[in-house]
Amino acid sequence: MLKFEEEVKTTGLPSGMMRMGAGKSPAMMKPFAKPSTPFAAPVVTPVVSDVPAAPVAHAASTQAAASTGRINVEDKRIINCNADVNQLVPFKYKWAWDKYLNACANHWMPQEVNMTADIALWKSDKLSDDERRLIKRNLGFFTTADSLAANNIVLGTYRHISNPECRQFLLRQAFEEAIHTHAYQYIVESLGLDEGEIFNMYHEVPSIRNKDEFLLPFIDVLTNPEFKTGTPDADRDLLRSLIVFACIMEGLFFYVGFVQILALGRQNKMTGASEQYQYILRDESMHLNFGVDVINQIKLENPHLWTADFREEIRELMQKGVELEYAYAEDTMPRGILGLNASMFKEYLRFIANRRCQQIGLDVIYPGATNPFPWMAEMIDIKKEKNFFETRVTEYQSGGALSWD
Ligand SMILES: [Fe+2]
Ligand SMILES: [Fe+2]
Repeated sequence: MLKFEEEVKTTGLPSGMMRMGAGKSPAMMKPFAKPSTPFAAPVVTPVVSDVPAAPVAHAASTQAAASTGRINVEDKRIINCNADVNQLVPFKYKWAWDKYLNACANHWMPQEVNMTADIALWKSDKLSDDERRLIKRNLGFFTTADSLAANNIVLGTYRHISNPECRQFLLRQAFEEAIHTHAYQYIVESLGLDEGEIFNMYHEVPSIRNKDEFLLPFIDVLTNPEFKTGTPDADRDLLRSLIVFACIMEGLFFYVGFVQILALGRQNKMTGASEQYQYILRDESMHLNFGVDVINQIKLENPHLWTADFREEIRELMQKGVELEYAYAEDTMPRGILGLNASMFKEYLRFIANRRCQQIGLDVIYPGATNPFPWMAEMIDIKKEKNFFETRVTEYQSGGALSWD
C-alpha cells in the first residue's frame, strides 16, 4: 500500500492511471480503464434452448402510444411490456407501490443531522491515525458510489423497466441516491476534509477502484443507447446487471463501510456521521429489497432466463464481490480497529453473500457462515422519528447554510 501511495505522491497518479491517460488530456480520459479480468465485459451466456421472447414493438422508454386502450392489469409485466407506461394504475405489483410509499415516509435530509460533535472530535487528538484513515477511505468509496448508483438508475435501469409502479419507486430511489451523495459531501464539508483527495479516491485507491471497475461493465451495458431488451440474451444482460447492482453493489459493497461508521457511532465517535449512515442503511435496505422483488418477478415471468449456467455465473460474480469487498476491508483497517478485525469481516461478507443468494433463489456459497455483527439488524430498524426529535437541527426549516461553530 505504501508503495502505491508513494507512487501517487511522486507522479500524481498510480501507474495504471498513467497508462490509461498517456497522451490524453484529463478531459479525454475515461474514468476507468476497462478491467482485464473476466469481468471486463458483461458476460453473455450462450442461449441453448430458450423459449423465443415475445416480439417487442416498442422500447419501454417510448411506448406511451403502444396501447391506446385502458390498462388490463394482466397485461402488465416488469420487462418487455406493451401496456402504456404512463398509466400508473391499476396496480399489478402492489409491493412496488408500497415500497414507494414507505420510502417517502422515511424522507430525511442530511442538514437535519447535527454534526457538531463530529467536527469537535475531528479537530481533537482523540482519533487515531487508523481511525482517520478508515473514515477517509470510507468516504472515499461512498462519495462516488452513490453517484454511480444514481446514474445507473436514471441512465440505465429506468429505461428498461416497463412497469409504471416500479418506475415510481426507481424515481424515488434515484432521489435518495442524490440525498446519499449529499450526505457524504456534507460530512466531507463539515469535517473540512480535502475534497479532491476524497472524491478522487475511486481513481487513486486500488481497493476502491477495483470495486468500481467490477461494477462499471454492468452499468455500461444498460446505459448503452443501443441496448434494448426483448431477446433472451439481452434480457439476461439486464437481469445480470440488476442482480449485480442490487445484490452485490447495494447489498454487499456497502456493508463493510456501513459497519465501520456505525461501529464508531456505537463507541460514541462520529455520532453525526453515524446517524446519517443509519438513515442511508435503512434506505439501502429498501433498495435492496425492491431490487430482489424485481429480480424474482422477472424470473417468474421469464423462467427461460434462469438457466443453470446463468445461476452459476451469478454465484461466481457474488464470490468475486466478496473478494473485492474483503480486500477493501483489509485496506481500510489494516491493523484491526474498533474491536473489528479482518476475519470478522470475512465471515460477515460470507454471511451476507449467502443471504443475497437465498433472496434470489440460489444455493448458498459459504455454508455455515454466521453473522458476527448481529447489532447491524437493529441499525436497519432504526426509528427515525425518535432520533430525529432528539437530534434534529431546529433551524432546518429556515433554510440556508447552517453554521456548526
Ligand atoms: Fe445510496
Ligand atoms: Fe441505493
